[in-house]
Amino acid sequence: MNGVTDTEPRQTPDLHTTAGKLADLKDRFHEAVTASGQAAIEKQHAKGKLTARERIELLLDQGSFVEFDEFVRHRTHAFGMENKRPYGDAVVTGVGTIHGRNVAVYSQDFTIFGGSLGEVAGEKIIKVMDHALKTGVPIIGILDSGGARIQEGVVALGKYGEIFRRNTAASGVIPQLSIVMGPAAGGAVYSPALTDFVIMVDKSSQMFVTGPDVIKTVTGEDVGMEELGGALTHNKISGVSHYLASDEEDALDYARALLSYLPQNNLAELPVYEAEPELETTDADRKLNTIIPDSPNQPYDVKSIIEGIVDDGEFLEVQPLFAPNIVIGFARVEGRSVGIVANQPNAMAGTLNIDAGEKASRFVRFCDAFSIPILTLVDVPGYLPGTDQEWTGVIRRGAKLLYAYAEATVPLVTIITRKAYGGAYIVMGSKQLGADINLAWPTAEIAVMGGQGAVNILYRGEIKRAEEAGEDVAAVRTKLANEYTYNVASPFLAAERGELDGVIEPAATRVSVIKSLRALRTKRASMPPKKHGNIPL
Ligand code: HXC
Repeated sequence: MNGVTDTEPRQTPDLHTTAGKLADLKDRFHEAVTASGQAAIEKQHAKGKLTARERIELLLDQGSFVEFDEFVRHRTHAFGMENKRPYGDAVVTGVGTIHGRNVAVYSQDFTIFGGSLGEVAGEKIIKVMDHALKTGVPIIGILDSGGARIQEGVVALGKYGEIFRRNTAASGVIPQLSIVMGPAAGGAVYSPALTDFVIMVDKSSQMFVTGPDVIKTVTGEDVGMEELGGALTHNKISGVSHYLASDEEDALDYARALLSYLPQNNLAELPVYEAEPELETTDADRKLNTIIPDSPNQPYDVKSIIEGIVDDGEFLEVQPLFAPNIVIGFARVEGRSVGIVANQPNAMAGTLNIDAGEKASRFVRFCDAFSIPILTLVDVPGYLPGTDQEWTGVIRRGAKLLYAYAEATVPLVTIITRKAYGGAYIVMGSKQLGADINLAWPTAEIAVMGGQGAVNILYRGEIKRAEEAGEDVAAVRTKLANEYTYNVASPFLAAERGELDGVIEPAATRVSVIKSLRALRTKRASMPPKKHGNIPL
């Protein structure tokens, strides 16, 4: 670790004196922080990218960074490498604070050997990961690298293996964030993939297992780097990334914001912010009474409900572009973090599909691992039908969300705002899966299926008779569907059976959620002892 801040170069020092040794230290430190040379830094800037050190400066609280291992050098002789041994190699590592709380960080330095990972760069990353795990603090990796250092061969590959093992050991113990700010190619993509959140920068970061050239050779497909593995692709299509940052500063801001909701580790308390919420219904609360449209087919934006419930209407959405039919993210209730999972009627009518199920289950498991209570808002007409879904594994992959909720032991509060049909009712944090407090709005419809679908099966005879009698079949159908919804899907039936703990006015939701989470603060629950479960993957 360095304790020197003066980076000015000196005259050749006299190493026989203390002053000379201190001057020598300063020289070496200067050499370490300027190892890549001005030309390489300018090349990096010209691409609209910051350097590894500049990124760390922006990420951490000002002046808090303490560097590790700035004097390590690689030990490779192959390909004339012995003539170029910059201090620090191709990654900057160390510790610092974000919002005053300790974090560990590594930032790959593309200006040195293309940020590639050889033996010593790998050892530096491993050391800082071990430090994070030992001290129970989040680890943030900033990736900008050509991958395994080609000159170092198997030694470089082995270091990736050691990093992956640590990513896995740290999973569920300390939060792990990856901020991809350049290339991440080949097997190197799997370290971010093993972490909890992946942030990518629009137009300047790419992740792929095999690049465009290899794809062209093997499959004949013509695809550009950006289309193949750019930030938009991974945020919208593959779901690999959780946030599409407009630029590097935005990416670092998002990481800081995200960490403000997370505990330091799985045994630490959640951060608590000062909040004195109004415990009477307010005019703002009453706006929730007007959100659900009279027509069951009319969509609305569930985010307006989320914003009406949480502190200051502040919601940090995660993966907003992927599977927008389900919304996930963090907010605070009474100054304490909550994870939110909500069907989004505005996208695909809020149906559940494979992508939505996988997106939500990973989030539920993250919250459970780090003891973040989960608030679930339900308005789901069912699973998305279709051969595409069946053949790509909606049974196996859809089961993940059931598994995630059923194994969660954190406080679970569920509010059904409108539709809760069939298996989708059960999966979305139902009482029977283990939720603690389940409430519904009077607009809720809870049944095996929606009114129109039920009429097709239950009232086939009546519909046929109406057709034969020349009656207005659509009107008959609607009347029967409404009767079904009123008689069978009414939330009061669920409340009568204790499947709900209450039916509340929407305006009472914010206060009900506060009181529910207060009541659950001392919740203790556990699963039977086991080595680990076998979630359907
Ligand atoms: C050693 C590397 C390197 C690497 C880049 N450089 N990648 N050196 N090993 N893997 C060096 C370049 O030689 C160059 O050095 C400098 O970094 C900058 O690279 P450029 O090519 O000039 O930059 P750019 O044009 O921006 O292209 C970036 C790039 C390209 C797309 C990443 O460099 C590239 O394709 N690199 C190889 C990527 C790759 O195939 N890596 C192996 C992936 S497999 P000079 O001295 O000229 O400045 C893998 C396995 C992991 O990583 C396995 C885990 C299990």
